Amino acid sequence: MKIITAETAAAASKEAFNIIADRMQHHQLHVLGLATGSTPCGLYRLLCASRLDFRQVTSVNLDEYVGLQPTDPQSYHYFMQVHLFRAKPFKESFFPDGTNLDAAAVAKEYDQVLAAHPVDLQVLGIGQNGHIGFNEPGTPFTSRTHRVVLTPSTIAANARFFARPDEVPRAAYTMGIASIMAAKQVLLMAFGAQKAPAIRQAVKGPVTPAVPASVLQRHPNVTLILDRAAASQL
Ligand code: PGA
Repeated sequence: MKIITAETAAAASKEAFNIIADRMQHHQLHVLGLATGSTPCGLYRLLCASRLDFRQVTSVNLDEYVGLQPTDPQSYHYFMQVHLFRAKPFKESFFPDGTNLDAAAVAKEYDQVLAAHPVDLQVLGIGQNGHIGFNEPGTPFTSRTHRVVLTPSTIAANARFFARPDEVPRAAYTMGIASIMAAKQVLLMAFGAQKAPAIRQAVKGPVTPAVPASVLQRHPNVTLILDRAAASQL
């Protein structure tokens, strides 16, 4: 694992931007894996303000809530429209189909999307419990796209985006751990002291499904981009 530590989240986002811009300039980025949440917002602002052109690039998102329409302001589809796609259209953009309640069909369809569009670079955040995507502790490393019931801590962490905690969906579709590991390159960003224990366990702890992000120790091309606070327990 390569670790880049910047003083602030803004400076760390610039590091992530520079890596993506470099891959774009070398025509090495055909499929970009994207994440939602607060962490990548600074990166997306930099991408929006840049001259980079993604109209020949395909995007695939990590996850989507079950039961929300793409037009629902709480859906991850909508989040990506607002934070990136309106300013920077992609050739095509894929999400697991949150409107389809048939989990097996959604998983099969999204696994086919991922097989047809192998990810060159996956942008990733990390949960305080070490989750990646919505792969909560205990998720098998062999998992592909699947439906998850969110843990109370993840529901609580996501409640800040909703008017009321009971509006947070209880389930999501997510790329699995094996799906994430299939990306040629992973950029995991983490900011703030609340992420420091998860970063320590992911980097220094044993590789275990109890800390999903620890699997990245086995990936050949991972860069962690941290601010000083998230790196404070390394
Ligand atoms: P955050 O979420 O970027 O909003 O902290 C990251 C995650 O839970 O994966």
